[in-house]
Amino acid sequence: MSRTHSFAAHSFKTRTFQAYGLTAITVALLSSTLSARAQTPDFPDGPGKQTVVATCGGCHDINRARAGYTPEGWRTVIRMMQNMEVPIPAAEWPIVAEYLTKNFPEKSKPVAAVSEGPMTATIKLWPVPTPGSRPHDPLATRDGMIWYTGQLSNKLGRVDPKTGEFKEFTLKSPHTGPHGLVEDKSGNIWFTGNNQSLIGKLDPKTGAVTEYPMPNPEAKDPHTLLFDHDGILWFTVQQANMLGRLDPATGDIKLVTSPTPKSRPYGMAVNSKNVVFFVEFGANKVASIDGKTMKITEYPLPDAGARPRRIAITPDDIIWYTDFSRGFLGRLDTKDGKVTEWQSPSGPKSEPYGISVVKGALVYSESGAKPNTIVRFDPKNEKFQTWAIPGGGDIIRNTDVTPDGNFVGANSLVNAVTLVELK
Ligand code: HEC
Repeated sequence: MSRTHSFAAHSFKTRTFQAYGLTAITVALLSSTLSARAQTPDFPDGPGKQTVVATCGGCHDINRARAGYTPEGWRTVIRMMQNMEVPIPAAEWPIVAEYLTKNFPEKSKPVAAVSEGPMTATIKLWPVPTPGSRPHDPLATRDGMIWYTGQLSNKLGRVDPKTGEFKEFTLKSPHTGPHGLVEDKSGNIWFTGNNQSLIGKLDPKTGAVTEYPMPNPEAKDPHTLLFDHDGILWFTVQQANMLGRLDPATGDIKLVTSPTPKSRPYGMAVNSKNVVFFVEFGANKVASIDGKTMKITEYPLPDAGARPRRIAITPDDIIWYTDFSRGFLGRLDTKDGKVTEWQSPSGPKSEPYGISVVKGALVYSESGAKPNTIVRFDPKNEKFQTWAIPGGGDIIRNTDVTPDGNFVGANSLVNAVTLVELK
């Protein structure tokens, strides 16, 4: 009962009840049905409406259905929701699919601003084996593999870019929601369990998974993670507004709350002096966290509307961030607090997202442009060069760099992983 209550007390935008498994989902759906109806009188009429209104607000804001996708995009979203065991009978899915595809087509998006420049890019994509995986984050490991989290398939997977051969590992608990992933010195893959309030460790040699549950159940959605230079694991907990520290030697986890309410701690990076930085996607702030005291220092960005989503740090310890809401690439020098911003080539609605440092340049993806792009920005001459991602790209949420200096991404909505070789 108390669990149901705690779900009902939350807004449907949170993913609270996914953590409780399917029995609780059914209970929660019953309680959400009434409020979903009350909140959504204006869903278009037609076959399928009732099911959508009764079901699709169960785990997240029902208005996500309004996002709008191509017919192909809707097919992928439906596979993803089926992986989440959304309780709709098999015979009804085609009606729901038709309703959504007809009423919520893709919205107009800025045209990708493709441009010439000094570099040549070779872009390769591999579709991942499990449909509707929603590959969230990529990881280029030291052995040359490209890993990804199957956020909605409950798997971690890897592809050998030399052969195209895949291997997928099913996780221990159902609906873990694997999100970020990193490699430790022994080759274990650590991940955040975004739906199950845990950090996990996969040993790829045996497939064994060790789970580290959050000491505070409020820390529901561990998000992005990284190892600092001392092998301590740091992570953001977005909706819970927290930062965490896990010592792999003891399994001990410590959590602190961000000083800014609802700041949504998101992307992370560590600088050359072993200081961990993160961005607040719910505020216009970059922040650092002290390795010992966990004290958080915030660096406000000049524009109140800035929403930094991902972060990368160049070897000179300059902070770079993608401002998703305003469509800017930003540069912050923490020594004097100076911020410089460049409008991303495809404009204010280009939604710059995953970003990495590749051979001294910033490389990121515009997830709002049609098609999505790979953007390279050279800090030496402040010039951009942009390529369209074959097949649309949708959506590179995080990125990484291979040991030989190439860019990798995972494409959540086209169910693929990408390698970009820049010469
Ligand atoms: C059992 C829980 C659950 C239910 C019920 C549910 N979803 Fe989802 N949905 C998820 C999860 C988990 C995600 C991915 C994580 C996130 O972004 O919240 C998601 C994401 C989405 C997205 C974003 C996809 C993307 O990658 O852009 C859309 C659109 C969506 N759901 C539509 C629907 C529709 C339509 C229904 C009803 C048919 C539905 N959902 C019912 C769990 C659910």
